[in-house]
Amino acid sequence: MALLSGLTAPTPAGFRAASVAADMNRPGCGPVRRGGAHDLPALLALERASFSEDAQTRRSLRWLLCRANALVLVSDAGPDRLAGALVLLFRRNSGVARIYSIAVDPAFRGQGLAEQMFETAVGDAAQRGCRLLRAEVRQSNIASLRFFERQGFERLCVLPGYYPGGEDGFRLGRTLAN
Ligand SMILES: CC(C)(COP(=O)(O)OP(=O)(O)OC[C@H]1O[C@@H](n2cnc3c(N)ncnc32)[C@H](O)[C@@H]1OP(=O)(O)O)[C@@H](O)C(=O)NCCC(=O)NCCS
Repeated sequence: MALLSGLTAPTPAGFRAASVAADMNRPGCGPVRRGGAHDLPALLALERASFSEDAQTRRSLRWLLCRANALVLVSDAGPDRLAGALVLLFRRNSGVARIYSIAVDPAFRGQGLAEQMFETAVGDAAQRGCRLLRAEVRQSNIASLRFFERQGFERLCVLPGYYPGGEDGFRLGRTLAN
């Protein structure tokens, strides 16, 4: 797809060591590439390792991986293991894209992988003509709030009782220069 010309294509049959060179700056991680249906088991494992209460189901992840209006970015950590993933949702006739999920395996955090995936997603959203990025985060998720605020997001509003268990969330937003 032209919009993703800067990205490594999905590996057709899962991880292939020769085709996923380790990132020089981030040992053990492959380059950011588009995820595909074959990433489902590894994506589910990453999801469960990253979110205690909010993990998505296999069915929901399959839908995201195969859905035309979503961009799933991943970085490989080995055979059937992902170092990180980001899901960006688009809506037809809308200039707003939503970061539905971003997660990095605990072993690969603090090395800039989330930032690299985010920058790739921003590039894609801008090329699609999006003008605003949105995200929702639990109020207690300090690491995530710091991450988004460092990427230029601002708190737009509080979402009372937004999360399972009743915790409030923040809706965050950032404009995109086109
Ligand atoms: C939020 C999350 C995705 C961040 O992932 P990450 O890859 O660790 O993020 P980054 O590495 O880009 O940034 C994290 C820290 O590493 C630092 N960092 C960035 N690049 C770095 C590098 N090259 N070397 C060393 N440190 C670096 C950043 O400054 C930042 O530090 P800070 O927290 O003190 O501000 C991760 O914590 C996570 O998966 N959390 C669980 C899932 C979640 O809550 N997702 C958000 C809700 S959808």
